[in-house]
Amino acid sequence: MMKIFNSIRVRLTLWHIGTIALLILIFASTLYLSLKKTLERSIDIALRTAGEEIEHAFLENPHVSWEQILNEESDKELPISLMYIQIIEIPGEGKASKIIIKSETLARNSLPLSRNVYAEAMKGRITFETIAVKGISGYPLRVVILPVKGKTIAPYIVQIGTPLKGMINTLRKLLIILLMASPILLLLLSFGGYLLVKRVFSPVKKIVGTAKRITAEDLSHRIEPTESKDEIGELIETFNNMISRLESSFKQMKQFSSDASHELKTPLTAMKGQIEVALRKEREREEYKKILKSALEEIDKLQETIDNLLLLSQMGSQNVKLSFKKILLDEILLEAFEEIETLAKRKKLSLILKRVDQVVIEGDATLIKRLFVNLIDNAIKYTRQGGKVEISLQKEGNFAIFNVKDTGIGIHDNALPFIFDRFYRVDKARSRETGGSGLGLAIAKWIVEAQKGKIEVNSKVGKGSLFIVSFPLQD
Ligand SMILES: Nc1ncnc2c1ncn2[C@@H]1O[C@H](COP(=O)(O)OP(=O)(O)O)[C@@H](O)[C@H]1O
Ligand SMILES: [Mg+2]
Repeated sequence: MMKIFNSIRVRLTLWHIGTIALLILIFASTLYLSLKKTLERSIDIALRTAGEEIEHAFLENPHVSWEQILNEESDKELPISLMYIQIIEIPGEGKASKIIIKSETLARNSLPLSRNVYAEAMKGRITFETIAVKGISGYPLRVVILPVKGKTIAPYIVQIGTPLKGMINTLRKLLIILLMASPILLLLLSFGGYLLVKRVFSPVKKIVGTAKRITAEDLSHRIEPTESKDEIGELIETFNNMISRLESSFKQMKQFSSDASHELKTPLTAMKGQIEVALRKEREREEYKKILKSALEEIDKLQETIDNLLLLSQMGSQNVKLSFKKILLDEILLEAFEEIETLAKRKKLSLILKRVDQVVIEGDATLIKRLFVNLIDNAIKYTRQGGKVEISLQKEGNFAIFNVKDTGIGIHDNALPFIFDRFYRVDKARSRETGGSGLGLAIAKWIVEAQKGKIEVNSKVGKGSLFIVSFPLQD
């Protein structure tokens, strides 16, 4: 039961029905009351007219008898069919008033005259009242009490009553019609409201159904878009877009973890193989040393990969703490250069610092050094013995431009769009020998973007590559 009232649909429908019921009630009672008032007023007007006519007849000719006046009055065509007329004489101080004539319709009955009404009449005011009189008609009477004053003669009170039969019957008919029509009207309007609400909410039900089917494993479901561009349509579109984004980031996550575990597994397998072979029989001291050294190399690679992965996962979480300070870019470049120089010497490459301008920027020194190392390291790795790597840092307008140019193997056009992706390597087998795991450029790109800079690459297979990084300068 509680659950039903939690539904917006049910609540809306109930509100709708309640509002309509209230409106019908207000409408019906207004109609009933105003009709009652109108009918009453028209009866009052007729009664008053009749009373004034009698008064008139009397005042114009005081010698005519009351009997004659009453006869004339009852001969007239009046809007009220039945009249009870009674004339009372007020003789003056001390003496009791008395009825001097009644219409035949009253027979032996008479109209009562209350103290209040009498007092009003004595003040010359006309009064209307609704009373029930035993023995006269089966209906309540509407009565006008009208004082008549001649100039010379004692005052009179004219009382004219009429049964409210017509009015009561009319009102009763109206009441029956209203009582019958209201529930029907309520039913029809409520049903209409119910259909409307149902129609509006049917897409919501669909959304809920689809959302229930969506899980982390299966994000392929989409809600069928509606044709209308209303709020519901917008909701569906937003929902579908959200699911698409979730789907692609889940895919990326899966890809990433499978790549990462592969990357960690390979050196471990190699190491395990070496050690197993070594343990098969007794070996010389020197031989053990050699094996341990090569295991250490694998461990170094593993450590590097894990470091890179850690950095990447921090980068993904968007809340890495970057320590932005004023830094000397040229000094950082020199540090990176010194760190990597031996690598070039070992490979018999010429590593040349072509031009280094003094540049100050706001940035994170550790990250920028890493960026320089990654790019120079690649240039050395992917250039054959005897090749050349040229480095420069220069100011150009509002930018500091860092270039690394090599005469290496170059990158094929097909591969260019992917080299900044995580774990991407153009030549997997060869890269294993050279030691990378395909994370260097992904990290480099992230560092450049954290610095609001840009990284670009020009490359020709067999000729060499040029990596260009531009940092915006603050003034
Ligand atoms: N200077 C370069 N010359 C040729 N190929 C390059 C160069 N720099 C990067 N690449 C290619 O881009 C790939 C991705 O680079 P990177 O992310 O640094 O990974 P890796 O760990 O293999 O160095 C490399 O495997 C290589 O194929
Ligand atoms: Mg690299």
